[in-house]
Amino acid sequence: MAEPATAAVPHDPPNAVDAMLAPIRELGLEQYVAELEHYGYTVIPPERVASPEFVGRVRDAVLRVAHERTGVEHALDRPGDAGSYETFPIQSDRYLLYYLLFEDEVFEEWLENPVLAAVVDYIMGGQVQLSSMVSFVKWRDRNAKPGDPATGLHSDSPGSPEGLLPFSHSAVCNAALCLTDYTREDGCIAMVPGSHRLGRVPLEGEGVDRAVPAEGPTGSLIVWLGNTWHGAFPKLTEGLRLNVTSYHCHPALKTQERYQDAVPPEMLARRSERFRHLVGAYEPFGWTVNGPDKERMIKRLARLTGLDEGIIRAAS
Ligand SMILES: [Fe+2]
Repeated sequence: MAEPATAAVPHDPPNAVDAMLAPIRELGLEQYVAELEHYGYTVIPPERVASPEFVGRVRDAVLRVAHERTGVEHALDRPGDAGSYETFPIQSDRYLLYYLLFEDEVFEEWLENPVLAAVVDYIMGGQVQLSSMVSFVKWRDRNAKPGDPATGLHSDSPGSPEGLLPFSHSAVCNAALCLTDYTREDGCIAMVPGSHRLGRVPLEGEGVDRAVPAEGPTGSLIVWLGNTWHGAFPKLTEGLRLNVTSYHCHPALKTQERYQDAVPPEMLARRSERFRHLVGAYEPFGWTVNGPDKERMIKRLARLTGLDEGIIRAAS
């Protein structure tokens, strides 16, 4: 069924746009937003993102979780090992650590990072929820050799059955906080600049010759649009390549990981209103005989329209 009539509350789009641009201006991120628009991705340097101490806390937490789940002590100068971690997929040079948000408060803090928040809200127009927070644990590919091309090119955005992607907006976006240096030799993410403008997924093998490395030192934040074709170069060096990838999606989409009712009240209490929206704390859908919860629906509409909750409450 369609959304209730209150969804038609009029609003002023320019104000909503201004609201998304204000943090970009305040944080001096205009250059990176321009790169997102032009190339479909950007690499924000560490000094703009977070302190080295904070990045170290995130990295320590990821290494701890890796040890706890795999039974194998992980260190930056050794290859990874999925050990006893029952997960999918496990490959010869990588595995993923899922569902990090509940593992350490540092991951909550990362989700509240002002630069991450500003760029994600800009891309998604503020209509966004967290889909997953994952670490890609990657190590040397023994079968790879220098000069090998990027593999696994894809778009993160869900498409039509024909592989068409939305032109008018981003249904999803992604952001990787680099916990180790990202270079081509170290197996960094590969991007196909401008591919977001094609509005479709790549055909088999397409774009490989145009893929470039998204490089940056530890602490860099790599952000890309849902349409942008990307993959990764093989890791040719010893040791780990680590990140924390925060995948975001429009609130109409199903999230990859389970938040909402899984989020404990004490976590919601210590976090911002934006955080509560990100984890679906006000999600009104899934109602039964009495329809949607009024207060949740008002908060959803306020978020989507930029209107004051009181105005919506008075109109509904
Ligand atoms: Fe991806």
